[in-house]
Amino acid sequence: MPAKTISATVAAIATDDKAAVLAQLRARVLPCAKCPNLANSRTQVVFGVGDPAAQLMFVGEAPGADEDEQGEPFIGKAGQLLTKIILTMGLSRETVYIANILKCRPDTPGQSAGNRKPTPAEMATCKPYLLEQIQIIQPRAIVALGATALEGLLGKTEGISKLRGNWQQFEGIPLMPTYHPAYLLRNQALSEKRKVWEDMLLVMEKLAMPISEKQQNFFLRA
Ligand code: URA
Repeated sequence: MPAKTISATVAAIATDDKAAVLAQLRARVLPCAKCPNLANSRTQVVFGVGDPAAQLMFVGEAPGADEDEQGEPFIGKAGQLLTKIILTMGLSRETVYIANILKCRPDTPGQSAGNRKPTPAEMATCKPYLLEQIQIIQPRAIVALGATALEGLLGKTEGISKLRGNWQQFEGIPLMPTYHPAYLLRNQALSEKRKVWEDMLLVMEKLAMPISEKQQNFFLRA
């Protein structure tokens, strides 16, 4: 009998078993040293957080300094804004799943502060882990946060401002590209906040979530 493909095997995972399968994957990823520079510079691998059976998954770029220190994605300033967005949708960090394209903080040799974008080679090396996370969780929708997440997931480099708000597909799962919350911290314009919120309204609609009038009208000028 031919061996089952990973996705066929994973497709059979019952909701109750997803936590265990995800924990096994986590145990494999934590000691990863495929990128020796990152394995040497990181404090820890930042695997992901949330509900192993989440309907909605957020994918960012890579851990920053705070995430590297605490081992959890999106807990720095940008993460706090993402958490607010999730709460405003009527969800929580516990009911969605949050992960990154890269599980290690990109090293910045010779620099005392700041981040750097993951290289295409680093993204390609780490992507199979994210793919397995997605195959286990099987979310009904994915939000790609920013241009790097979009590039890492779909290989699209057209730019996030062109593609945000337009449904894409990743392995048959609807994928919504939107701006990274760090962009909203840099650009405080109401119009940009509204764009991200409109993208989240599309996600809520896709998941058949209730949308209140208050939610519908967030960031609209009076
Ligand atoms: N930015 C990201 O893309 N991911 C994190 O986990 C934190 C900041």
